[in-house]
Amino acid sequence: MTYTPRTFNLPTLSGISEKQIAVHLALYEGYVKHVNLIADQLKQVREGSLSLDPYVVAELRRRFAFEFDGMRMHEYYLEQFEGGAQGNQDSSLAKKAIEKYGSLDGFAAHIKEVAGSRGIGWVVVYYDTVVQELHTTFVGDHEIGQLSGLPIILALDLWEHAFMVDYVPAEKKNYIDAFLANMNWTVCEKRFEQVTV
Ligand SMILES: [Fe+2]
Repeated sequence: MTYTPRTFNLPTLSGISEKQIAVHLALYEGYVKHVNLIADQLKQVREGSLSLDPYVVAELRRRFAFEFDGMRMHEYYLEQFEGGAQGNQDSSLAKKAIEKYGSLDGFAAHIKEVAGSRGIGWVVVYYDTVVQELHTTFVGDHEIGQLSGLPIILALDLWEHAFMVDYVPAEKKNYIDAFLANMNWTVCEKRFEQVTV
């Protein structure tokens, strides 16, 4: 099993520079590399060709979640820019968001509020098919606080590496505004439709 970095067809973004994206893509590829490295080490341990201290093996297994979610979350993030800023205010996702957050502006305001959480991590919007409700939460690092089994509808990277080529930490709000302004919501709408049909 080997993961291959995905390529993304990204348009010119407003408020997020090409250099910022290039730095971020390189970092994403680092996560893919380390997923493969850890998976290979664990495979060798499993097959008996590599002997490691059990503490090291246990840490590698924990570390796998960090690297794996680092890989997968960036794929959710980056593909949201593909196709350029667009969305359908009458989509089933929009209707579901309005149900909980009052309006699409209310949904965006809530995302911004959660994005103001201190620390590095992600704003993640999930959909729980059990109660047919969206949940907007903050995930620490890439894996701490993920909601088990829930499909991801939106992922907003709030690690400082996501914006510090273009903004200083005090300008994080500008980055969040730029992220939302560049969002192709039809990507999120498709994710939502896939779990609600
Ligand atoms: Fe990132």
